[in-house]
Amino acid sequence: MIEARNITRTYTGRGAFTGTRTVHALRGVDFTLPRGGAVSFIGESGCGKTTLGKILTGLESFDGGELLVDGTDLSKLSARRRAPYFRRIQLIHQDPYSALNPTRDVGQILGDPLRMRARETGATRTQQRERAAELLELVGLRPGTLAKYPHQLSGGQRQRVVIARALTVDPEALVADESVSMIDVSMRLGVLSLLRDLRERLGISLLFITHDVATARYLGEGGELHVIYRGQVIERGPTDSVVQQPVHPYTQCLLSAVPVLRGLEEPGPDRLVPLAALDERVATPGCLFAPRCPFATDGCADGRPGLTALPADGAHRHACLHPRARRVVATEAAAVH
Ligand SMILES: Nc1ncnc2c1ncn2[C@@H]1O[C@H](COP(=O)(O)OP(=O)(O)O)[C@@H](O)[C@H]1O
Ligand SMILES: [Mg+2]
Repeated sequence: MIEARNITRTYTGRGAFTGTRTVHALRGVDFTLPRGGAVSFIGESGCGKTTLGKILTGLESFDGGELLVDGTDLSKLSARRRAPYFRRIQLIHQDPYSALNPTRDVGQILGDPLRMRARETGATRTQQRERAAELLELVGLRPGTLAKYPHQLSGGQRQRVVIARALTVDPEALVADESVSMIDVSMRLGVLSLLRDLRERLGISLLFITHDVATARYLGEGGELHVIYRGQVIERGPTDSVVQQPVHPYTQCLLSAVPVLRGLEEPGPDRLVPLAALDERVATPGCLFAPRCPFATDGCADGRPGLTALPADGAHRHACLHPRARRVVATEAAAVH
């Protein structure tokens, strides 16, 4: 349904102390999101995840590459002609608190976009009310929620309202950017399983963006996982093979921060250390991860590797000069994620 080819986005900013600064938020990202399929992007803060989510939903422009929705290249269309394509792709962003207008009740929050939609579909007032009730049920909220204001709802319930509102326009894809990171841990699984359910029952494609391996794994089941580092995808493939047999040291470091792996690891010569903080200013012509990589050799600083398929599995690709399985050791520091 969505095909992104070599999408780049560069920000140039002027800081008070730093002078002109160029940030390569995305450096040529490619992916295909099939109809009803799932693709997840995982990476630490600042790697370009939100920029990607905004580009895919039309909230941010891109400076290079092509974005195709159902085969139509949006980079060739005017902003006005792009709008109907972007409406099929709805963003669920990370903060359900700021996403909802506190002065309107849920009935109004869902009613406004349903009324707009009715101008195209010709739905009557009664049909709009029925649709609002149907959407509430679909996202697992009681009918009484229609009369509630956002402050009367829990974080998980608010995120369900945000999802219901996104569904008012009958989208074909949802882009979920850290959609559960700001809600209480006890409610996360409910919202994640709702997203998974929408994909299974309604065939809505799901692009899931997160810094958390466990959620990427849960939602990306049967789909592709892309690991992104400083705007570049450095490993990608079927979710299970990337999670179970990561070959890029960065992916291995990310996975080592998963508490669930603790207890399974063995210390060895390939022991991973917790990563030092990301320093945006480190410029390198070589591998972007080399300055922080425990396994970097001199060659890694020379040229930047592109994605290469693993001989054993053509769908699993990596951008590393030294791809190999390593035992993942979660240290105390890395486990506190
Ligand atoms: N509007 C902007 N102006 C300048 N720099 C930006 C802007 N938005 C994002 N960036 C920079 O682009 C990089 C990627 O940001 P973002 O996409 O928000 O990452 P993530 O969501 O993975 O944390 C960061 O270095 C960030 O500082
Ligand atoms: Mg973000």
